[in-house]
Amino acid sequence: ATAAEPFDLKAHIRGVPDFPKPGILFYDICTLLRDGPAFRAAIRQLADLVRPHAPTALAGIESRGFVLAAPLALELGIGFILLRKPGKLPGATIGYNYALEYGTDRLEIQADAVKRGDRVVLLDDLLATGGTMAAGIHLLKEAGAEVPLAAAMIELGFLGGRARLDAPFAALVSYD
Ligand code: PRP
Ligand code: MG
Repeated sequence: ATAAEPFDLKAHIRGVPDFPKPGILFYDICTLLRDGPAFRAAIRQLADLVRPHAPTALAGIESRGFVLAAPLALELGIGFILLRKPGKLPGATIGYNYALEYGTDRLEIQADAVKRGDRVVLLDDLLATGGTMAAGIHLLKEAGAEVPLAAAMIELGFLGGRARLDAPFAALVSYD
């Protein structure tokens, strides 16, 4: 186990009012990513959160999830699986459509990305309604993975998204 470093993640996340629409407060991780030591400290905090679940691989969700999942996989010394927006992955894929506030979206995984019994932790930058993460969990399970943990750097706790997830969930910080 690694001792938690004295690092205040929320101090590095900027709230941008009225983006992308009036009334929405957008939590912007670009301010964190621009700061090398803070970015590294955040990845190490995620590693401490995820490591006890003994993943054999890490999956990330396009686009912002990739920014965190690739360095986290490297830090953990495990492989990285991409869950992508439609039509981007070559070869046989499995897809899942999910509802948004207006319309639908879709995520895809390569059909041979996981072997049955693999323990795949799923990471995204942020959990809001939970629709995106729920779709990712569904896809990983359909591809044959165990999902011991779904994790996000940021949780919008007031939206209750974690209740929609068919896997244990943890986040580094939550906003209410
Ligand atoms: C954002 C965020 C999560 C998702 C959370 O992604 O990065 O993936 O929304 O929302 P939900 O819990 O309500 O599903 P977005 O679709 O904006 O795309 P991006 O990651 O490509 O910026
Ligand atoms: Mg996203």
